[in-house]
Amino acid sequence: MRDAAPQTIYLADYTPFGYVIDDVALTFTLDPHHTRVKSRIAFRPNPESTERRFFLHGEGLKLIGASIDGAPVTPELSDEGLTCEVPDAPFIWEAEVEIDPAGNTALEGLYMSNGMYCTQCEAEGFRKITYYPDRPDVMAVFSVTINGPHPVLLSNGNPVATQEHHAEWHDPWPKPSYLFALVAGDLIAHADSFTTRSGRDVALNLYVRPGDEHKCAFGMQALKASMRWDEHVYGREYDLDLFNIVAVDDFNMGAMENKGLNIFNSSAVLASPETATDANFERIEAIIAHEYFHNWTGNRITCRDWFQLCLKEGLTVYRDSQFTADMRSAPVKRISDVIDLRARQFAEDQGPLAHPVRPESFQEINNFYTATVYEKGAEVIGMLKRLVGDAAYYQALDLYFDRHDGDAATIEDWLKVFEDSTGRDLTQFKRWYSQAGTPRVKVTETWQDGSLTLHFAQHIPPSSATPDPQPQVIPVALGLVGPNGDEVLETRMLELTEAEQSFRFDDLGARPVASILRDFSAPVVLEHDLSDDERAHLLAHDSDPFNRWEQGRILARQSLLAMIRENADPDRAYLDGIHAVVSDESLDPAYRALMLGLPSQSDLATALHDAGDVPDPAAIHKVSEAMRDALAARFAEIAPRIYQACQIDAPYRPDADQAGRRSLGNAMLSLITRHHGPAKAQAQFDAADNMTQQLAALANLIRAEAGDAALAAFESQWQHDRLVMDKWFGLQVLEAKPDDAADVAEQLTRHADFNWKNPNRFRAVFGSLAAHHAGFHHVSGKGYRLLADWLIRLDPVNPQTTARMCAAFQTWARYDAARRNMIRAELDRILATPKLSRDTTEMLTRIRG
Ligand code: ARG
Ligand code: ZN
Repeated sequence: MRDAAPQTIYLADYTPFGYVIDDVALTFTLDPHHTRVKSRIAFRPNPESTERRFFLHGEGLKLIGASIDGAPVTPELSDEGLTCEVPDAPFIWEAEVEIDPAGNTALEGLYMSNGMYCTQCEAEGFRKITYYPDRPDVMAVFSVTINGPHPVLLSNGNPVATQEHHAEWHDPWPKPSYLFALVAGDLIAHADSFTTRSGRDVALNLYVRPGDEHKCAFGMQALKASMRWDEHVYGREYDLDLFNIVAVDDFNMGAMENKGLNIFNSSAVLASPETATDANFERIEAIIAHEYFHNWTGNRITCRDWFQLCLKEGLTVYRDSQFTADMRSAPVKRISDVIDLRARQFAEDQGPLAHPVRPESFQEINNFYTATVYEKGAEVIGMLKRLVGDAAYYQALDLYFDRHDGDAATIEDWLKVFEDSTGRDLTQFKRWYSQAGTPRVKVTETWQDGSLTLHFAQHIPPSSATPDPQPQVIPVALGLVGPNGDEVLETRMLELTEAEQSFRFDDLGARPVASILRDFSAPVVLEHDLSDDERAHLLAHDSDPFNRWEQGRILARQSLLAMIRENADPDRAYLDGIHAVVSDESLDPAYRALMLGLPSQSDLATALHDAGDVPDPAAIHKVSEAMRDALAARFAEIAPRIYQACQIDAPYRPDADQAGRRSLGNAMLSLITRHHGPAKAQAQFDAADNMTQQLAALANLIRAEAGDAALAAFESQWQHDRLVMDKWFGLQVLEAKPDDAADVAEQLTRHADFNWKNPNRFRAVFGSLAAHHAGFHHVSGKGYRLLADWLIRLDPVNPQTTARMCAAFQTWARYDAARRNMIRAELDRILATPKLSRDTTEMLTRIRG
């Protein structure tokens, strides 16, 4: 928090630090409000830099004393750190500071959660622990001593000595400060081991609070599967004797890849069949993999500066999505990722928060841990792989690991590896990293004498981040489907590089239907004017599972838009086409369940806005309900049979097979509840022995306005379990009627268990309100007001989580004048709050434009 005008940091201003660190020794003496941290750092002038100003970051530290080569010094202190006269030769810096972990509610630096100590240093939290050059290009070997009255005292690397209340750790791998971690508490280890393919035995521990021991087994299995997968697919082995994971309840994000000591939000690691849903299990598997994969893509090769964040995050998201595709169903994973990309990243890229995958400036780096950096960053890697081919991709990755192991690298380094190993010029491709905005690709067709010509035009809408966009390299996977449903041209990759380009296919006989952008081969908006019959043809016959799903989704969207604009009835062809696919027992149940999903109400608002209309959230909600009713009627006969066939008569397993059946069964349950009433949902609720079945039943009961008893029963069953209670809080908001959503949320904030300082609980209520399109955008403005009230309250406590939640307002410009004015008034009210954090100020200023 500062009153001074916030400072903007630019990529173009990068200079290396003037000093190199050989090693670092830290000694912690833990105390809730008075922790002492001693540092001893061996510096020497950096031969690659002429900068000789000695500046160490430090925030909120009480300096007890400092010395250079043993002689006390008096550094010059500021809010951001300290400067000091230093010798023009190697020297030893020593300092002692005092910090207040129990008073640290921002959950950045060293803080306390339920009596345990833990840390979160990425991106710039280490400076809240001690004075240090807190930047990722300064890498050092750390030795850490911890004194504290706790049975478990952990840091990075390998343990070198442990006695009661005293532990010493040494991490042999040089690392930047953002990968530092410390944990202390009364914790229980779920232990296992893994032997790497070269025969190294690695001890694995998952540390949890007493009472959570039964929620560890799945995370541990996922860790071992990830270790095995990275060896097989990328040839990467683990490099320490020990790998620890710790679960903490108070955490701003999902998890953190600290070297040898990953720290997880408990929601991202703890699971048992009774308390976690299938979706939770899948997410946990992916996050465990993600953090583990960072050991190579992030830790062994790190980022030169925070502008290069996508170097580690885009690649690691790409790797975890490959892992999930291998462990589960590749098409289902791809479709789920596209749904998520469109909901979060497209919204960002098409609104006031648009920024390139590699941003060029920021005020608060925590505001750039975004869907663009992570998910679009991963899509860019997927495109690179499509363009060079699988074999060349893995060759380039081998070269990347060889060449840059131990480096703090850049996107230039990354692309150079591909250029050197494939001979390709990636100058134009690099625009994916530097230009913001979602490209729109328009396709028109001409058909003549057995030749089909596809004309492509690409257009990137200008934004304030990229006012003058240039054409990008867009890999378009294409197939042609014949009139009888056969594949007449197998998938091939077209490369768009120009603003306009055509491709001709000869000797085709009858006119085929073009299946374009198979597997969603590029993160673009495709505009391809197919007739409804042609779409229905692809829905029935396309060999590409993504495009099959996509055509169903487009038919649904067109029908919903016609229902809004022309008061049309739900489209029969859509209902029949979906009915046919969902009834097809040769298809994967998980895929059939996805086929039943409708475009989100927020997606429909975007579609209306793109077409020049002003979306009315209440009308969008109404037609979405009407379409679900129409689906329920169309499936009235078959839904009970499919539901029955999906019931599982075996012990619960969270694998893709069982999860897919439950997912289809529960999709049927919601159709059945709509059409035949809540009896079956009540029966499923009463009989459920796992959270997937219990929660799905509860959602249906609430929707049918028959949920009061079940909600009460659920609460008394689960009030001791924080993670389950987060679901209880969230579901009531998500399933509320639009008129009630804000009131339900407001009521829940008065509940005794609404611990608003816990980010999971805050998000359970307010993340759900923001996700409830018609409830949040209620014409009364009460959704906006309630969220703003609580953001004002949370900001001084936890700026990072406050700033993230501001994104709920990012789509304001597409609504009517009344809503726009109400939102702007709330943004201004928050911005007028005295001492508003840098995080929230930056977000709101960007959103407001
Ligand atoms: N590197 C972590 C991950 O993606 C996320 C850390 C985010 N931290 C933050 N302060 N924004 O796995
Ligand atoms: Zn990550």
